[in-house]
Amino acid sequence: MQRIFSGIQPSGIPHLGNYLGAVRNWVALQASHECLYCVVDLHAITVWQDPAALAQQTRELAASLLASGIDPKAHILFNQSAVHAHLRLAWIFNCVARMGWLNRMTQFKEKAGKDRENVSTGLFTYPNLMAADILVYHATRVPVGDDQRQHLELANDIAQKFNHDYGVDFFPQIEAMIMGPAARVMSLRDGTKKMSKSDASDQASIKMTDSADEIALKIRRAKTDPEPLPETIEGLEGRPEARNLVGIYAALTDTDHAAVLREHGSKGFGAFKPALTDLVVSKLAPIADETNRLLADPATIEAILRDGARRAEALAVPIVEEAERLVGFLKV
Ligand code: AMP
Ligand code: TRP
Repeated sequence: MQRIFSGIQPSGIPHLGNYLGAVRNWVALQASHECLYCVVDLHAITVWQDPAALAQQTRELAASLLASGIDPKAHILFNQSAVHAHLRLAWIFNCVARMGWLNRMTQFKEKAGKDRENVSTGLFTYPNLMAADILVYHATRVPVGDDQRQHLELANDIAQKFNHDYGVDFFPQIEAMIMGPAARVMSLRDGTKKMSKSDASDQASIKMTDSADEIALKIRRAKTDPEPLPETIEGLEGRPEARNLVGIYAALTDTDHAAVLREHGSKGFGAFKPALTDLVVSKLAPIADETNRLLADPATIEAILRDGARRAEALAVPIVEEAERLVGFLKV
């Protein structure tokens, strides 16, 4: 059975993009893979996080993953900082990856923007830690949204260079699994920008714990154009907002853009938006209720994470120790 690893940052309540681009696929993959799912708190502090908020966001994210259907007994759910093997391998990878490789990372360029001199060095080496997250388990498949594709290519470059430099065949190649019609959910305010936890506008994203009223309001206010929906996908060309709403509908009904347009094509947004609202509410409301139920008992969430970390550690330690031996560290 192939081993899967994926991670998500505890930098706020996850949104519909995280759910459709990642979490929903994580749940489905549990039927056919051995899965490790990680709340990446080490990655979160590459930008400033208020300490009390970070701990609470870690609980909230874990609760939301459990409520979405992650099974912490058959698989492993844990927070990254609890398994030090990630850091040991990340240091080695800091010394394998090249400046030129990291300089090409578009996510760094986007996040650093004009403030390049003033961002943390952790933000720059972020992809090396991500490579370590995966490779410290010799995981071979990684379900992520489309935005992470470049980071996974870099992880493969690191694995290959390590193998080449040390003359071994130790780290496997990894395969990105980018799934479904909503691998890239866009902002409700701007169909050319991805839905993101860091968007300045609260109206740009639907959070996993939004109430039915909040969801309805956000969809009603979502930016659209004045034309009715087209009847075929070609008609979505140049209409990013329409494409996004149709993509969300398709993902939530397990179909594709074409099937949604066969059903809703030629309707105006005045008719399509209420249908979309009902659909989103019907999928998210049960998850939000379960998340809140779990959050009322933080000790249980922490016990689940602790158990996951212990089992993750047992898998990771032999691999990182072998990597350290290959590098030539003297074991004393
Ligand atoms: P992050 O919130 O950046 O830690 O992302 C967690 C997971 O959600 C990753 O697999 C991302 O690729 C995915 N993701 C984040 N934003 C979006 C989006 N707007 N559309 C689809 N997937 C996304
Ligand atoms: N960088 C990923 C994101 O922002 C999160 C992440 C960290 C991750 N480590 C990972 C995803 C390992 C997949 C595998 O979405």
